[in-house]
Amino acid sequence: MFYISTAIDYTNGAPHIGHAYEKVLADVIARYRRLAGDEVHFLTGVDQHGQKVQQTAEKEGVNPATFAQRNTKKFIKLWDKLDVKYDGWAETMDERHKACVQKILSKLHAEGQIYKKQYKGYYSIRQEQFLTDKERDENGEFGAEWGEVEERDEENYYFKLSDHADWLRSHVEASEDFVIPSFRKTEVLNAIERASDTDLCISRPKTRLRWGIELPFDTDFVTYVWFDALINYISFAGYLAEDGSELPDFSQVWSTQANVHVIGKDILVPSHSIYWPCMLHAIGIADEQMPSLLVHGWWNIKGEKMSKSIGNVIDPTALAEQFGSETLRYYLVRDIITGKDSDFDADRLVITYNTELANNLGNLCNRALNMSKKSLNSIMEVNDYDDEDSAALRKSLTDAIAGYRSAMDNYDTATALQKLNEHVSFCNGYAERNEPWQLAKDETAHNRLATVLYHMAESCAHISVLLSPVIPEACAKIQSQLRLPELADKKLSELTWGLIPAGHEIGKPKPIFPRIQLEE
Ligand code: MSP
Repeated sequence: MFYISTAIDYTNGAPHIGHAYEKVLADVIARYRRLAGDEVHFLTGVDQHGQKVQQTAEKEGVNPATFAQRNTKKFIKLWDKLDVKYDGWAETMDERHKACVQKILSKLHAEGQIYKKQYKGYYSIRQEQFLTDKERDENGEFGAEWGEVEERDEENYYFKLSDHADWLRSHVEASEDFVIPSFRKTEVLNAIERASDTDLCISRPKTRLRWGIELPFDTDFVTYVWFDALINYISFAGYLAEDGSELPDFSQVWSTQANVHVIGKDILVPSHSIYWPCMLHAIGIADEQMPSLLVHGWWNIKGEKMSKSIGNVIDPTALAEQFGSETLRYYLVRDIITGKDSDFDADRLVITYNTELANNLGNLCNRALNMSKKSLNSIMEVNDYDDEDSAALRKSLTDAIAGYRSAMDNYDTATALQKLNEHVSFCNGYAERNEPWQLAKDETAHNRLATVLYHMAESCAHISVLLSPVIPEACAKIQSQLRLPELADKKLSELTWGLIPAGHEIGKPKPIFPRIQLEE
């Protein structure tokens, strides 16, 4: 099983373009893995507990549960709109998740891996964590990234993170794919050094925070939101699930084939690369069953971080309504290199769509179908005619598929799409060089004409399968116009030349990618 999961989004607000990117990226990977023949389980969801949710709910005068559920609906609606098709949905308020978190807490407590102590220190409300002197900047202050910092003196429960530091260091050093891309490994190893002598505070007194999962062994406390949220990756995969829970079989989902959490760079350290593997190690998950972290970069706005206070937050719903949800899906995985940051720019979104989909692919599909209708009555022929340019087109397709696959296997969606786009450009060049509209006027050139149109249409058939993880609806339309709905079930291994059978009658062309006019 190929298990792919994403960070669960905080429900203290509405989804923005960063949330949308992560879910679309994961959805594209999930769809691609299915195409590659893997069985896939794709989990995403929402993070409903914690101080941020409690605080925002209070400001709005509603109870946190109602508030979290209200925002949860906004996420579900957006994923529906963007055709993000998940197999599992994680909500941390779910009783099944709560039961799993409590079982883990009880077990670790009984084993002495969780202990109670008095602690006096500084606490960042924004990051919901205690700060140590290591977090102070060169002036000895806690920087702006920590938000409001207050002094607290309280008793809490701690997880013995430090017991696992040596194991974690060697696991990260030895593992090839614990963090993807690998340039982030140093960041993780440095963070392990910093954290190796500190334990993790996993409780919050109810006097301060009520909105969380109660500790099973001390009802005066709730669970720290990160300890609760991280467990979603296993609770919703069926870990310690009761019979009849309708959750999947954990041993099937959490397999060794591939297990990838898709997260943003801001939550790599310390939560996902330190707390989480140590938690998994503590409950007895084997080294070869540790997940990989696919760490993506951020969408910024004119080089700046998106933030409510700057007022530059981009709403994905409005964009999908204005330009189409597949236009947005395409742009989100095309104009950013997985792992790096990129600048979100609505003009570039339109330009990318117009150039690669409307002008390039749209043009190829229209030409292939139109010309075939006019000069071949839409009946595709396979004959003896062949030439160097047609052989070059077939090679261009083989190369594009190889490039696309190797990029997608490495989660590099931008390069994968570039490879496909290059082949489509080749096909349009091929059409211009061979001029089927001229060949149609010459009866003696019939075989050449049929071959040229076959090569163009066959390329459309291949591209409709290869692009389907990114723009599924448009690809289904191409397949329907080719009258080959069975292409929807093709796996990558079945993509050999000749998807269109000889004598097959294709359908009528209808523009699938109308150009978007850019306003001045
Ligand atoms: N609730 C935690 C995650 C818990 S996972 C066990 C959280 N939520 S979040 O809503 O703040 O962020 C959700 C995801 O969106 C994170 O992976 C984060 O990196 C990602 N992004 C938030 N802003 C982003 C951009 N501007 N660009 C790309 N991704 C961004 O953190």
